[in-house]
Amino acid sequence: MEVLPSHSLTKGGALPEHIAIIMDGNGRWAEKRALQRLRGHEQGAEAVREAVKGCAELGVRYLTLFAFSSENWSRPIEEINHLMGLFRFFFKKEIKSLLENGVQVRFIGHINRLPEDIQDLIKEICEITRDNSKLILTIALSYGGQAEIVDAMKALGRKIQAGEIDPEAIDEAMIACNLETADIPDPDMLIRTSGEKRISNFLLWQCAYTEFFFLDVLWPDFRKPHLEAAIEEFSRRHRRYGAL
Ligand code: IPE
Ligand code: IPE
Ligand code: MG
Repeated sequence: MEVLPSHSLTKGGALPEHIAIIMDGNGRWAEKRALQRLRGHEQGAEAVREAVKGCAELGVRYLTLFAFSSENWSRPIEEINHLMGLFRFFFKKEIKSLLENGVQVRFIGHINRLPEDIQDLIKEICEITRDNSKLILTIALSYGGQAEIVDAMKALGRKIQAGEIDPEAIDEAMIACNLETADIPDPDMLIRTSGEKRISNFLLWQCAYTEFFFLDVLWPDFRKPHLEAAIEEFSRRHRRYGAL
């Protein structure tokens, strides 16, 4: 995808309300430089700051970042520990600037699998930023789209068992209401860096009509011009939702 200068963003073109990003390619970024994979994860933090700042500046209301998947728990323990260390460091360091820049932070995923001190940090960030509304930043951590749907089905099953709902009353809206993303709109755009062209268990239900953008850039190299180029392409796409 061609990277365009910021002034070329179409004025008045359709701006996405919600952008979701699969931040992929940290390991390959490091391997290309004969560095340990961990160095790539460290560099990825700068790209996260850039994406958050860029979305806030452009007026995007919702940003959802895939930071660690349910399946990433099967990586070597050293890499998992290092990633946990980075999350810990990042959350502590960024909390102030997120608060000051009007970012409300939320989390989706099986947070209870994370080390307890990180769970505490997560609660603190959510609590401190809860009244912000400029940008709603959702961080998917220990998240899997299928696991999220399983959880929603269990919740509905319990309501049926308790006689609170009739199975015939289940529709798309009711399922969406039982997902962790119940109060945020579905993503308009899904960006995946690193050149891989798959969804890797991210927001499976929510991406039913999302526009996909597969960028060859590796996540640590992702910067605002890449975001702007993708948004520019988005503004030229025609979304039909199955209609004519
Ligand atoms: C994405 O980068 C970060 C996480 C999945 C936590 P990768 O670690 O998947 O990097 P590649 O895909 O191996 O290059
Ligand atoms: C998806 O990337 C998960 C995150 C970016 C957090 P992966 O690197 O885990 O995905 P696969 O294994 O290439 O599908
Ligand atoms: Mg990867």
